[in-house]
Amino acid sequence: MVREFGRTAEGKEVKLYTLKNKGGMEIAVTDYGAALVKVLVPDKDGKAKDVVLGYDRASDYEAGGVYFGATVGRVANRIGGASFSLNGKEYKLTANDNQNSLHGGRDYYNKRMWSVEDLTEQKAAFCLESPDGDQGYPGAVKVTVTYELTDDNELTIHYHAVSDADTLLNLTNHSYFNLSGHASGTVLGQEVFIAAEAFTRADAESIPTGELVPVAGTPMDFREYKAIGAEIEKDYEALILGQGYDHNWALDGTGMRTVAGMRSKETGIVMEVLTDLPGMQFYTGNFIISEQGKEGAEYKRRYGACFETQYFPDAVHKEHFAGPAVKAGVPYDTVTVYRFRTEG
Ligand code: BGC
Repeated sequence: MVREFGRTAEGKEVKLYTLKNKGGMEIAVTDYGAALVKVLVPDKDGKAKDVVLGYDRASDYEAGGVYFGATVGRVANRIGGASFSLNGKEYKLTANDNQNSLHGGRDYYNKRMWSVEDLTEQKAAFCLESPDGDQGYPGAVKVTVTYELTDDNELTIHYHAVSDADTLLNLTNHSYFNLSGHASGTVLGQEVFIAAEAFTRADAESIPTGELVPVAGTPMDFREYKAIGAEIEKDYEALILGQGYDHNWALDGTGMRTVAGMRSKETGIVMEVLTDLPGMQFYTGNFIISEQGKEGAEYKRRYGACFETQYFPDAVHKEHFAGPAVKAGVPYDTVTVYRFRTEG
């Protein structure tokens, strides 16, 4: 199903695409920013709950600064000093987060019109031609982001890109999940697990120091389900610097695997995150002040949690972090799955 989703400031028509499956789920995605706008999951009483934060119209996505549902690229998260060198050449990016580049640095992927490449009842593929020099990065890249809703209640996001020159790529989705419903308030009472023995320590500007810190005995330990709010106010360096959880966890294992989960006792909705990527930024919406969201909802601090699967932040400057570098002509392919079920 396709409907109008308003216009951009330039007057471009934006559309909202709804995908439905046989498991009672429904999602909506827009060609503005290839953003995930809505995720309806049946709760324990069989009532559909919308479990992602978002806006009602394209112009709100255009104005918004907190990346609701956003497709983030070319390089998600931070590059220290907003510069890097590749094949002996220095590249300058835009510093938009202290002296660093965050989520693309300028002319964000989530603030552009994407074209629809493939559309079926349960699949929508969006395409973006990112020219050579875009955001300061080398190489012309064709990016395709495909959302698919399977009958097993899996929301699959497949990122595919090919560059005509060596470059960096680290694409992610910045959805804020609230499994009690997008308009239900903070997520602090909801539980999360993260299959990671360690996280990447970061400095006051959220740039990794290069150290991997074991989570054992720290408030960063989510190896068993625990309430997001259980330890968030603890006097612990990472939580103080991040003003809550806003770190990259070094995910256990390799290949496609379950890396995280979230659950709400209130609705019985459980989400599992699967990915083939090495890292995940778990961010608890610490910097949302007040956003006028869908259906009159007002979102505030910690009303949603992001599970941004990724290569480690600032990997381009850290030899021991798996790199987001891609070679000319070699496809970049990665998959993240948000799998839903309802308990109770
Ligand atoms: C970052 C946060 C940032 C947020 C923007 C996250 O990926 O880690 O520090 O404030 O994106 O919404």
